[in-house]
Amino acid sequence: MGAVSTTTIAGVMAVRRSLAKPIGSLTQMGTVRLGKRTEGRSPLIKDFVPLASLDDIVFGGWDIFEENSFEAATTAGVLEKDLLEQIRPELEGIKPMSAVFDRRYVKRLDGPNVKKGKNKRDLAEQLIADIRAFKQANNCDRLVLVWCGSTEVYLTETPAHASLAAFEKALEANDDSIPSSMIYAYAAIKEGLPYTNAAPNLSADVPALMELAAQTGSPLAGKDLKTGQTLMKTIIAPGLKARLIGVNGWYSTNILGNRDGEVLDDPESFKTKEESKKSVLDYILQPTLYPDLYKDLCHVVRINYYPPRGDNKEGWDNIDIFGWLGYPMQLKINFLCRDSILAAPIVLDVALFMDLAKRSGMSGIQEWLSFYFKSPVHAPGLYPEHDLFIQLMKLKNTLRFMRGEELITHLGLEYYD
Ligand SMILES: NC(=O)c1ccc[n+]([C@@H]2O[C@H](COP(=O)([O-])OP(=O)(O)OC[C@H]3O[C@@H](n4cnc5c(N)ncnc54)[C@H](O)[C@@H]3O)[C@@H](O)[C@H]2O)c1
Repeated sequence: MGAVSTTTIAGVMAVRRSLAKPIGSLTQMGTVRLGKRTEGRSPLIKDFVPLASLDDIVFGGWDIFEENSFEAATTAGVLEKDLLEQIRPELEGIKPMSAVFDRRYVKRLDGPNVKKGKNKRDLAEQLIADIRAFKQANNCDRLVLVWCGSTEVYLTETPAHASLAAFEKALEANDDSIPSSMIYAYAAIKEGLPYTNAAPNLSADVPALMELAAQTGSPLAGKDLKTGQTLMKTIIAPGLKARLIGVNGWYSTNILGNRDGEVLDDPESFKTKEESKKSVLDYILQPTLYPDLYKDLCHVVRINYYPPRGDNKEGWDNIDIFGWLGYPMQLKINFLCRDSILAAPIVLDVALFMDLAKRSGMSGIQEWLSFYFKSPVHAPGLYPEHDLFIQLMKLKNTLRFMRGEELITHLGLEYYD
């Protein structure tokens, strides 16, 4: 129930009351072209595939702080007071359930609203009980879980993650390699819920939880929402590569002052974020295919916690590029963005698409949702697709495929026959 989730929740409430528009949401405002360019068929995505309606959604969540959604949204300081006042009673009705939390994984935070349990398995069972109670109390047909909790410290796969049997044993043994977010992921997947990781930490992207997802039919997506600076990077870099413009340096720095920034001020949480942010250029620019253009690329990413800015992040990119005959040029990007304003429509879209995936019998990794993530989860042995435009084409073709419509290749020779 931090900045991203309360901005999503309050936003949906505001849209439902026609107080504002769902700008940035593909499920609410996007269209999909069907058939030939001459047919003039471009329905709204929400009319083309049967997505849950915003009027039918109820929200719940966990947090280590006891503030209700109105108070949490006020603390986050993203949305104007006037807007929040208009939906205040509805927001106040959402009180966080007590969290599964361990400071070892998020060193800069501590709060009172935390569960106690004899081991991690017991904690997972308490979360499952919360999920069931929420479903019953709100009379829900289906549930979706999106991890919008803080970025946890950098972890890598261990033998405890290698199989479901090993993982369940490790839960009972309170193994250190299972962070809190993984306990939520286990609980959700065990219940057959679609699970998405909006943060960059290791969570459901381990063999044990993929095995569980295959058993329970849970769709999986993540990780780390592609907003702000990385969104711009994945818009600009494919363009430079398309024109075979060389890049020998990309320096990205930014300042932000929200709670996320405070958590990322801890070097171990920052390491998780840094890994996620740095991977995109390698995959987009493909230095092994284009050594003359990208082999020596120096890519640096910095995040600086700077409280006066709150959620209104400012990012600077200095890109050293070179063209014909190696002549150098520079490109500067100064993005004054609002982190949670960019993130909220993604959380909504992913929740609705993941629910659709579950109803369509699609379980496991949903690579067609890569469009929304900095570090898209992908099948072992496959490299992730980071190019925003390829990602969008993949997403829309998946929707066409689901509805039995012809896939669009953009070949278009038939217009000239
Ligand atoms: N805003 C963006 O553009 C963006 C983009 C990509 C990823 N993210 C990630 O999304 C996550 C949320 O971002 P935010 O800006 O809302 O941060 P935030 O700090 O405002 O919210 C995170 C919330 O999670 C809670 N929390 C931490 N551990 C928990 C646990 N184990 N159980 C329950 N609650 C827990 C915290 O108390 C806090 O209220 C972060 O990991 C961030 O890195 C955000």
